[in-house]
Amino acid sequence: MNNGDVSQSRRRFLIGATSVVGGVGVVGAAVPFVASWNPSAKAKAAGAPVSVNISKIEPGQQITVEWRGKPVWVVRRTETMLENIEKLNDRLKDPMSEEADQPPYIEGIYRALRDEYLVTVGICTHLGCSPTYRPEVAPADLGENWLGGFYCACHGSRYDLSGRVYANQPAPSNLVIPPYRYEGEDTLTVGLDPEAV
Ligand code: FES
Repeated sequence: MNNGDVSQSRRRFLIGATSVVGGVGVVGAAVPFVASWNPSAKAKAAGAPVSVNISKIEPGQQITVEWRGKPVWVVRRTETMLENIEKLNDRLKDPMSEEADQPPYIEGIYRALRDEYLVTVGICTHLGCSPTYRPEVAPADLGENWLGGFYCACHGSRYDLSGRVYANQPAPSNLVIPPYRYEGEDTLTVGLDPEAV
């Protein structure tokens, strides 16, 4: 072997060694990505459906459950509340929720699988504050035309008791309706469509 051959084979060795190191580096770098493709049990739990017993909710009462880190309201609406919702169509931006973020099985002015229960994400569609439940009719601070709904104190957006936004508000659209279904008479599950197995 002359000197030229030695330096040739040394160069080949060095190239080979560099490639191996590079290969190890790639495998090492890939591990964190693999880990991120397998969500932790905690992450799975955070995205999981949430079941709630609705049998104890009084007429007119609102409860809040947490689903995917967001507040989801369940409001048991009275007959009077449902009648008042009907009166508001011409004061709302999108009374039939044609532009709203809601599942395809949610329709009409009550936006619910059962008219008695509104299920909605409690986050204002303007900039994400959580509005306040204001079921009273004509309270002094909201005026004599107020028929019950949700008021967002951040910038003043108003929604009715179906989560439909009034016209000319900062909020661009109705409150979001999450996927949900009933499991029998008393249990409501947020995060699962009625047809899901
Ligand atoms: S965040 Fe609700 S009105 Fe702005």
